[in-house]
Amino acid sequence: MTSPRSRNLSRLPLREELQGQEPYGAPQLAAKAMLNVNETTYDVPADVVDAIAKEVRTAAAQLNRYPDREFSTLREKLADYLNRDLEAESEPAVLTAENIWAANGSNEIMQHILQAFAGPGRSVLSFPPTYSMYPLYARGTYSEYIAGTRSADFTQTPEDVAAQIREHRPNVVILCSPNNPTGTALSLQTVEAAYEAAAESETMVVVDEAYGEFRQAGTGSALALLPGRERLIVSRTMSKAFALAGGRLGYLAAAAEVTDAMRLVRLPYHLSAVTQATAVAALDHSETLMANVERIKEQRDRIVASLQEMGLHPAPSDANFVFFSGLHDEKAAWQHLLEDGILIRDVGIPGHLRVTAGTEAETTEFLTSLRRYITSATA
Ligand SMILES: Cc1ncc(COP(=O)(O)O)c(C=O)c1O
Repeated sequence: MTSPRSRNLSRLPLREELQGQEPYGAPQLAAKAMLNVNETTYDVPADVVDAIAKEVRTAAAQLNRYPDREFSTLREKLADYLNRDLEAESEPAVLTAENIWAANGSNEIMQHILQAFAGPGRSVLSFPPTYSMYPLYARGTYSEYIAGTRSADFTQTPEDVAAQIREHRPNVVILCSPNNPTGTALSLQTVEAAYEAAAESETMVVVDEAYGEFRQAGTGSALALLPGRERLIVSRTMSKAFALAGGRLGYLAAAAEVTDAMRLVRLPYHLSAVTQATAVAALDHSETLMANVERIKEQRDRIVASLQEMGLHPAPSDANFVFFSGLHDEKAAWQHLLEDGILIRDVGIPGHLRVTAGTEAETTEFLTSLRRYITSATA
């Protein structure tokens, strides 16, 4: 049924590809346990709240002026942070502020990338099921979207990814690792194979590592592959591991020339002084925030083990969420959980659901409710 508002909207001279479309967005229902959009469910720790408030207060006194267009302090701190990630994997700390770009969430990072490297007459390839915004970034930048394919278990091999890039010759390919909604990370061999296959068509290779901090020990980050690969971009966000989804700060690491390309498409002063101050304060407290990452990973692994015990089939997860199948009626299970105050995500793949790993108490509530559902459904 169309509402009077949408009937009015259809009278406007809207771009053809937007007609009849719904805006993106998970339901923002109030529930006791909100485990549907892969946020960190721990509140921001009090000392980090104080540090953010102090930094924002200082910025507030200068809000009569435009912010630092180059967000230099923030770029330096992001480079330091990523270098620590590289060093933790015994890789050289090669990144400087010149390699970093930031924007209002990694959503805007992706939009900048497509504005610069895709656009009318150009194409973008990604591999569904994956982050459902990718086709929408393509639509918003007038780019053609190409839906690649995955194996039946949703994994990807280096050979298959390379073959699809050679076949489609896209201008941009987006690899999501760990992938949303399935949770599994790609091997670095797959990223290397994608980059090699992309050479002939001069395709930009974007690795979306929004959940990078949650990857399993032994799973490498594509950051290590950046040296010498000028068409490789690694995208990250402070929305997940940093518990800063409301702060809206995404960033990328790439060759310095890529950041020069981003300067051509960004709007003037796109990162507000308040955003910059918030992100800088959070980066100064990354150790405190990362303590929760370890707790979340424990709950993630607990969910995988418990779902297996229940006879369900969770995918291996390198993220802060678990994608699972094995339910006869996922919609009924989703509704049962909601009635118990637990909101998880129906990602629209028959037989599958996705749940965010929250606090220990939230995980217990989720597992208890699901166990009750399974017992009653099979009784
Ligand atoms: C894979 C992936 N990339 C990017 C984003 C966008 O995150 P943000 O714009 O908050 O940085 C999300 C959000 O859920 C995501 O799952």
